[in-house]
Amino acid sequence: MKLPLVELHLHIEGTLEPELLFELAARNAVTLPWASLAELRAQYDFADLQSFLNLYYRALDVLRERIDFTDLTRAYLARARTAGVRHAELFFDPQAHTSRGVPLVTALAGVRDALDRSVDEWSISTKLIVTFLRDRPPAEALQILREILAGGVPIDGIGLDSAEVGYPPELFTEVFALARENGLRLVAHAGEEGPPDYVWQALDLLGVERVDHGIRSLEDEVLLDRLVRDRIPLTVCPFSNVRLRVIDTLADHPIVRMLDRGLLACINSDDPAYFGGYIDDNLAAVDAEFGLGPDRLALLARNGIEASFLTNGEKAALTAEVDAWRAAQPAPATAIRSS
Ligand code: HPA
Ligand code: ZN
Repeated sequence: MKLPLVELHLHIEGTLEPELLFELAARNAVTLPWASLAELRAQYDFADLQSFLNLYYRALDVLRERIDFTDLTRAYLARARTAGVRHAELFFDPQAHTSRGVPLVTALAGVRDALDRSVDEWSISTKLIVTFLRDRPPAEALQILREILAGGVPIDGIGLDSAEVGYPPELFTEVFALARENGLRLVAHAGEEGPPDYVWQALDLLGVERVDHGIRSLEDEVLLDRLVRDRIPLTVCPFSNVRLRVIDTLADHPIVRMLDRGLLACINSDDPAYFGGYIDDNLAAVDAEFGLGPDRLALLARNGIEASFLTNGEKAALTAEVDAWRAAQPAPATAIRSS
């Protein structure tokens, strides 16, 4: 029995594996700056968020046609299925495509095509969250949101990502207000590289229901009290934090401290093709590092379910499966030794 997982912080563009990237480059006759898979992989040594984003946006140039976006999304869903993912809320960056001449509907409908079949094909339910690039003009985000609201491709929510420092959430108040008026769910990256003040702004000015990363919240006790009191979820991405040098090593990761502080934290994969693994790999590495054990693994899985935008009934059903997984785990060695 596999621990049922919910993935809440996953940039679909960040699942573009080198093999698929080269395949799409050949299919679309795109000339790449890297001669081989090894040469591309050699670029995956990041100094910070911006150095990663430079490669991430460059690599996306191979995505041209609607089917490319469908293939990318199907490849992720296939991998997520092996990880035990039962529900995924995907981020998608429209401006990473419109800014290089790919029409909004081509990209968005391509992703949607795969999501519409994901329950039947992979037994994974999904939600689609459009993320706006905070280092591009808020007016552009507003325009794209209006186009999406007017168009025929449904989405579930909006978020905020890309370069954080210098681009505070307050710039996007109008965008989030429009999304809220239209019944969309609201999340934002905050407190990844940016200060705790950006988390406050995301909560109080944008009205987000969930904070992506948020690990710099640990620097502000009053903010921690608020996050705990209101059960605001934090979607934590350990491999990402190490690879983007938000923390030095996995051993320094605050995930256990966060759980002990009472935060509703869950584990996610961010950009798994670039950061060394998917949600199961992240969980396994954190378990190996800290010896989480079945109780904390189950807690992380339950937190993900609670943090999701599933209905209460769907949450209860998945939580019951986590409880069944926990009950099926072997008793600790100390209990066996006592006879
Ligand atoms: N942080 C911010 N923006 C992003 C990321 C990330 O980890 N991945 C893709 N866009
Ligand atoms: Zn992210």
